[in-house]
Amino acid sequence: MNLKVLCLSLLLFEASCFTEFEITVPRDTVTGFYGEALILHCSFPVDSSWDLKSTVITWQRGLDVVHSFYYSQDQLDRQNRHFVNRTSLFIQEMARGNASLRLDKVSPQDAGVYTCSISTNTGSQKKSFGVKIAAFYSEPRLLFSLLTDGVNLLVTSDGGYPSPTLQWLMENSDITNRTQTHIAQDTQTGLYVVSSWLNLTGVSNSSLTFILHNKPLGQDIRRDIQLYSDKSEKQGESAYRCHGCFIYIPVILLLLLLIVMSVLSVFITRRSRREQTKQNGFTEIKSKFLMENV
Ligand SMILES: *[C@@H]1O[C@H](CO)[C@@H](O)[C@H](O)[C@H]1NC(C)=O
Ligand SMILES: *[C@@H]1O[C@H](CO)[C@@H](O)[C@H](O)[C@H]1NC(C)=O
Ligand SMILES: *[C@@H]1O[C@H](CO)[C@@H](O)[C@H](O)[C@H]1NC(C)=O
Ligand SMILES: *[C@@H]1O[C@H](CO)[C@@H](O)[C@H](O)[C@H]1NC(C)=O
Ligand SMILES: *[C@@H]1O[C@H](CO)[C@@H](O)[C@H](O)[C@H]1NC(C)=O
Repeated sequence: MNLKVLCLSLLLFEASCFTEFEITVPRDTVTGFYGEALILHCSFPVDSSWDLKSTVITWQRGLDVVHSFYYSQDQLDRQNRHFVNRTSLFIQEMARGNASLRLDKVSPQDAGVYTCSISTNTGSQKKSFGVKIAAFYSEPRLLFSLLTDGVNLLVTSDGGYPSPTLQWLMENSDITNRTQTHIAQDTQTGLYVVSSWLNLTGVSNSSLTFILHNKPLGQDIRRDIQLYSDKSEKQGESAYRCHGCFIYIPVILLLLLLIVMSVLSVFITRRSRREQTKQNGFTEIKSKFLMENV
C-alpha cells in the first residue's frame, strides 16, 4: 500500500517536472513613476540545454508590440511607435533567465496590461500583469487676495497623477462644499493641474486646512493656513477699540489727575463757577474720546 502511494507521487513529480516551463511575472499591478525608468520583470527557467538562438521574447501591451527579440537580437520593425527608443532588454542577463524589460521615461499613456511571452528550446509560456503610472503632486502654492467684503484663497498644485481628492477644513469642520475646484489634465504630459479656491467673507481669525490626497502613492499633502484679520465688520471694530484703549490710557490718567486737581481746587477756591467749568471740560474730552473711539 505504502509503496503504491510512493510510486504514484514519484510519477506525478516526474510528470510535472517534465511539463513545467513556468515563467514569472509580478503578481500585482506595478506602479511606475512619471519620467523615470520602469523595469517590467519577467523570468524564465533555463537549464544546461538553453540556447540563445532559439529564444524568442515578446513584450506586448494589449495587441501592441512593445519589444521583441529573436535570432539573438532585438527585432523592432513591428514595435509600436509609442515605445520607440524607450525599451531595452538585459541581454547579458538572459542566460540566467532574465527577460525583464526596461521602459524609459514613463508617462500616464504607458498604463495598461503588459504581456511577457517566452519561447525557448525547452518550452513556452506567456503571462500578463497590470502597469499603472503615478506622479507626486508639487508643494501647493497659496495665493491670497483681498475682496471688497472678504478674502479669496487659491491653492494650486500640479504635476500629479492620478486625479487627487481634495478637502478643506475650517476649525476642523469640513467646508469642502463651500469651495470650488478645477482639475485639468496637461495635454502633453497627461499629468493633473489642480486649483481650489475659497471665498471667506466677514470672518476674523480662523484656521483653515487644505488636504490633497493622492491615493495610489499614499501622498497626503496637508497644509494649515492661519488667517489673521482685523478688517472684518464686527470683530474688526472690537479689535480697533481695544487698540484705542491702549492709546487713551495716558489721556484717562490725565483726566483722573484733572479730577483730583479740580476736587482740590474746590476746597481752595469758591465752589460754584470753577466746578462747573472743570466739569464741562471733562465731559467734552470724554465725549471726544468716545467719538474718536467708535
Ligand atoms: C534582470 O536584470 C536586471 C538588470 O540587472 C535587473 O534589474 C532585474 O531585476 C532582473 N530581472 C529579473 C527578473 O531577475
Ligand atoms: C530614436 O532614436 C534615433 C537615433 O537616436 C533617432 O534618429 C529617432 O528620431 C528616434 N525616434 C524617436 C521616435 O524618438
Ligand atoms: C456636500 O454636499 C452634498 C450635496 O449637496 C452633501 O450630500 C454632502 O453631505 C455635503 N458634504 C458636507 C461635508 O457637507
Ligand atoms: C469668489 O469671489 C470672486 C470675486 O468676487 C468670484 O469671482 C468667485 O466666483 C467667488 N468664488 C466662490 C467660490 O464663491
Ligand atoms: C487675531 O489674532 C491676532 C494675533 O494673535 C490678535 O492680535 C488679534 O487681536 C486677533 N483678532 C481678533 C479679531 O480676534
